[in-house]
Amino acid sequence: MSRYYLTTPIYYVTAKPHLGHAYTTIIGDALARWHRLLGDDVHFLTGTDEHGQKVQDYADEAGKSPKEFVDEIAPLYADAWRHLGITNDDFIRTTEERHKIGVAELLQRCYDAGDIELDLYKGKYCVACEEYYTDDELDPGDLCRIHKRKVEYYEEENYFFRLSRFEDRLLQWYADHPGSIKPEFRGNEALGLIRGGLRDFSVSRTTLKWGIPIPWDPAHVAYVWFDALANYITAIGFGSDDERFQQWWPARHLIGKDIIRHHCVYWPAMLLSAGLEPPAGWAVGGWLLVGGEKMSKTSGNVVNPLELVDDGLDGFRYYVLAETAYGQDGDFTYEGLIARYNSDLANNLGNLAARVATVVEKKCGGIGPAPAADSPLAAVASTSYAATAAAWDEVQPSRALEATWQLIRATNSHLESNEPWKAEPGPAVDAVMGDALEALRIVAILASPAVPQAAQAVWSRIGLPGSVSDQRLPDAASWGGYPGGLTVVKGDPLFPRK
Ligand code: MSP
Repeated sequence: MSRYYLTTPIYYVTAKPHLGHAYTTIIGDALARWHRLLGDDVHFLTGTDEHGQKVQDYADEAGKSPKEFVDEIAPLYADAWRHLGITNDDFIRTTEERHKIGVAELLQRCYDAGDIELDLYKGKYCVACEEYYTDDELDPGDLCRIHKRKVEYYEEENYFFRLSRFEDRLLQWYADHPGSIKPEFRGNEALGLIRGGLRDFSVSRTTLKWGIPIPWDPAHVAYVWFDALANYITAIGFGSDDERFQQWWPARHLIGKDIIRHHCVYWPAMLLSAGLEPPAGWAVGGWLLVGGEKMSKTSGNVVNPLELVDDGLDGFRYYVLAETAYGQDGDFTYEGLIARYNSDLANNLGNLAARVATVVEKKCGGIGPAPAADSPLAAVASTSYAATAAAWDEVQPSRALEATWQLIRATNSHLESNEPWKAEPGPAVDAVMGDALEALRIVAILASPAVPQAAQAVWSRIGLPGSVSDQRLPDAASWGGYPGGLTVVKGDPLFPRK
């Protein structure tokens, strides 16, 4: 069994989660579910990023202590993920003890390696990014390019991480691990950042109090990104449970394109400095835009994901996964959500499930026949599985679903050309329906990472016992698994048209 440790970014707890946060988390959940189907030992981590100037500022504004403030917001994330069917195995908060211990250990290791040194910092800082910028990285008027707001001027004594020393080591590491950042064009962006020259970055603040103290100089607290990135190792026991840490590390990180520098440049360098292995991989997503702009609290265009799942979770999950090629930006629209739902779910999957159950009820006495070994759909199922698996492996959920939906479309066409609803009961009808049931069985498995509720409903309605998520690929996708002789029930429409 291979271990598959997958992480999402940990989200700033400045406000309740929005669709942009749900986007990465749903991709992660679908991937985690896919890998469980493959039989991997999966550990899926998400959590909240609770320290730093930005959180401190929000707490001040709300007239609360930072601790009170984060204790109110962090559970909103955990709750949202529960409502969206997210199957994370752990949820880390950076204010937890296990995290603080691990961050101190990581800092100390980099310090002992000679890669953290005291220096004077003068420069411009975007609090929203929690990042220093040089003049050529800012828009005219000293505006941050991401947040379009004026940066602040800081001058203080900071500890610096000597990132500049890692240029060659990082380039060498990436050369030795080709394809570790997906999609490839995002990997090229990361390499471009490294080749463009690396600047040391400050890892401590003296003006900030809301953070983790530097172990050898507690007048400083750790820079929020150093603190935050460490969550990926502290959550699995770094500094507190070494055996567990060894079991799970390295991770595969899902991130947004805005945090490539931190994850693909800073983070592997920090790990190398501490004598740890860099991550096993990164998958970088684009942004979900609303009206052409990144959804963010600052832009005022936030969509609450929980308002989109009132009448069913799967339609929303499917839209998020299928609509946009992972890595590219995508546009969120309500019209797009409904259109996807009606075409792929109501008309394709829902219609197939309803037709099969209706015909089996009317023409086969409600008992599902077994499939034929030489069914024309067998080859389609095999190609569809191969393409689905390859696309999940590339972290391309939209392509994976497209490949799975090929089998749904082919099965609908098979029914339309045979018209079993017009035929007299008998072996010919049984043959067509056995094949359709077998295709549905495979579809239920392959679609389950995206639409877990509907997949389970299909599974149970065609009479299969237990949970579809207990199936194991690739065996479960081989043609011929539907045993026949099971009671098939129609049930309510899976996806009533909207
Ligand atoms: N706390 C840091 C991450 C630390 S990870 C060690 C942070 N938090 S965030 O809440 O601002 O954003 C987290 C992730 O959510 C980022 O990767 C970001 O790209 C993603 N998204 C936030 N808004 C988004 C969209 N509108 N669309 C897609 N993803 C977006 O950065």
